[in-house]
Amino acid sequence: MMKTLSEKIARFGLAFALSVASATLVAAPASAAEEGAQATPHYPLVKPPQEPWSFAGVFGRFDTAQLQRGYQVYKEVCAACHSMDLMSFRNLAQPGGPHFTEAQAKTVAESFQVQDGPNDEGDMFERPARLSDRFPAPFPNHQAAAAANNGKAPPDLSLMAKARAVERGFPWFVLDIFTQYQEGGPDYIHGLLTGYKEPPAGTEVGPGLHYNVGFASGSAIAMAPPLSDGQVTYSDGSPETVDQYSRDVSAFLMWTAEPHLDARKRIGFQVILFLIVFAGLLYFAKKKIWARVAH
Ligand code: HEC
Repeated sequence: MMKTLSEKIARFGLAFALSVASATLVAAPASAAEEGAQATPHYPLVKPPQEPWSFAGVFGRFDTAQLQRGYQVYKEVCAACHSMDLMSFRNLAQPGGPHFTEAQAKTVAESFQVQDGPNDEGDMFERPARLSDRFPAPFPNHQAAAAANNGKAPPDLSLMAKARAVERGFPWFVLDIFTQYQEGGPDYIHGLLTGYKEPPAGTEVGPGLHYNVGFASGSAIAMAPPLSDGQVTYSDGSPETVDQYSRDVSAFLMWTAEPHLDARKRIGFQVILFLIVFAGLLYFAKKKIWARVAH
């Protein structure tokens, strides 16, 4: 009996040793492959730093003035190449956004021409946009957009702030749960727009491409640097720098991607507050109801 037990232990020990050894053997090539992967750079070359957004955190709110400036940058610069298909002009006057008055939004709409029709003769025609219209796209279709931009069509910007984020790694992905970090999109866009640098010696940049340390899909992007200092004239005295423009347009794109962020955060806080008070009430109600029952 004792012998079989010790045999069993020995056999288990051998099996354990074998499995550890084989696991090491299997793991070895994997770690070699990982080392190989380390040699190819991770993009973006520079991770976007965490910016102090007004809409970050539990009590975050959009900064109306910033959204208005961001809209101005979009309209004067980005709209030449990028569409914003999911946005209507009426959205500009909605609460929780840039908060233009309805008259202002109407004026904005009328400065755009949209296609309408067909008319009684069966022809399509152009007319000034109305509040109910969506923002018109700068190119008639994807192919035309690509042909005008070195073969890469500028993507639609409506949801861009939700479509991009850079992996943050440990310990951030744990801490982010507690800090409620949700600004990966605007951080990425800001990092991209301020990421144009001189390529280091020995780095070749393909034709029509521009070296950018903030781009998630490589070291060079087909978008020429869209912003330069002093390009957009602000009326509220904010600095007219690439950094400020990028910040404002990133905030604006966060709003287009999540127009109800203000309401979501406000209602979320109210619900949690209500649940805390309700839990207290339930506790005392339970105590009172069961007070005279022996237990
Ligand atoms: C001259 C045309 C042009 C202008 C102006 C322009 N872009 Fe672009 N943009 C492009 C093109 C082309 C691409 C696709 C690049 C690629 O995939 O290599 C692009 C891509 C992007 C991307 C996606 C990057 C990614 O991770 O895939 C973002 C975000 C962006 N642009 C933001 C902006 C903003 C914000 C502005 C205004 C400040 C702007 N762009 C102005 C042409 C332009």
